[in-house]
Amino acid sequence: MFTSDLIEKLNQHSTPFYYYDLDLLERNLQTLQEASQAYGYKVHYALKANVDERILQRIREYGFGADCVSGNEVRKALEVGFPASDIVFAGVGKTDQEIQFAIRNNIHSLNCESLQELEVINALSQQMNRVAPVSLRLNPGLDARTHQYITTGLEGNKFGISQVELESILKNLHQFTHINIIGLHFHIGSQITDLEVFRELCQVVNAIQEKFAAYPLQLSHLNLGGGLGIDYYHPDENPIPDYHAFFQVFQESLKPLPQQTIHFELGRAVVAQCGALISRVTYVKRGLNTRFVILDAGMTELIRPALYHGYHKIQNLTSSEPSRVYDVVGPVCESADFFGKGVELPETRRGDLIAIRSVGAYGQVMASRYNLRDPARVIYSDQI
Ligand code: LLP
Repeated sequence: MFTSDLIEKLNQHSTPFYYYDLDLLERNLQTLQEASQAYGYKVHYALKANVDERILQRIREYGFGADCVSGNEVRKALEVGFPASDIVFAGVGKTDQEIQFAIRNNIHSLNCESLQELEVINALSQQMNRVAPVSLRLNPGLDARTHQYITTGLEGNKFGISQVELESILKNLHQFTHINIIGLHFHIGSQITDLEVFRELCQVVNAIQEKFAAYPLQLSHLNLGGGLGIDYYHPDENPIPDYHAFFQVFQESLKPLPQQTIHFELGRAVVAQCGALISRVTYVKRGLNTRFVILDAGMTELIRPALYHGYHKIQNLTSSEPSRVYDVVGPVCESADFFGKGVELPETRRGDLIAIRSVGAYGQVMASRYNLRDPARVIYSDQI
């Protein structure tokens, strides 16, 4: 990603900033488009991963839909030009205003996560004299084998409709006069690298479909969510996920009904590798048993290491001296403010330029102004 020419240009800018490689994003989108078309699958980009305007524009230009988890994300998707008919809206805590906004704007589907939410959507759409398109987000009770904070399909997680509530919904379908149940939705977690997990999901979905066969519902689509992981350890060797291998699992193991279209909601896989956080070394200091590299970026720009012990590859772009082992940390007043511990880097000095890789997903969107820090800027590859 970083040629000497690019490093020289990046080095002229004040840090910290997010650097987005739009060419890499294009190549990713092309690969995803080819793969999804080959399998006849529809992909909705999960806005929560990155809502940068230029990134969203590119994604929309490729004809992908949008997956949103707040009214503001739905609004953003509409503003950027995603057709309403390609927008889906999930989330366990949709407010009345968010539901009304989604219904008014004729989005493709509200992905409903509980019995009570279904009752509220029904009542609100009745007041609006409408019939709301709804998919049921079901909790499949399945372990995604990823970090506990980003697993969502276990029975103990707050997401999706539980088996218990599903029984009451199915028994009382006649009550929901202002709802059209058009599909089923599942999302079991994020950064899933073991594709067999998705095969297990297919088996659960097949069993659920058999159960639904007894009810008078026209389920026109199955939405299998997102979650496809990326290679944080080798961003240059594996800049684009293996979408074919991912889709193939579903083609082999999922048994959709003849009329059903298959949808996915990918976030991380699409945008993670095109972003890097570029930072400068403010100080290097000796600790008792370690050397600290203190950067001018911190957990305020990338919280993943602090929150999930997420690994991000760290590179010194301006030194090629023999390496040493460092703890790479930020300036924020928290011991959780680190990017990596025991990291091998070439001899690092004050002023060196550091790249933290694979930051395009869940980087900038999770930034905060803690310690009253300035928001980091964005620099795009075609502006440099
Ligand atoms: N659909 C739904 C309903 C979701 O909740 C999510 C992510 C996605 C799709 C997209 O998942 P992806 O393809 O990006 O894995 N901040 C965490 C990740 C949280 C994911 C939340 N939901 C992290 O930095 O690892």
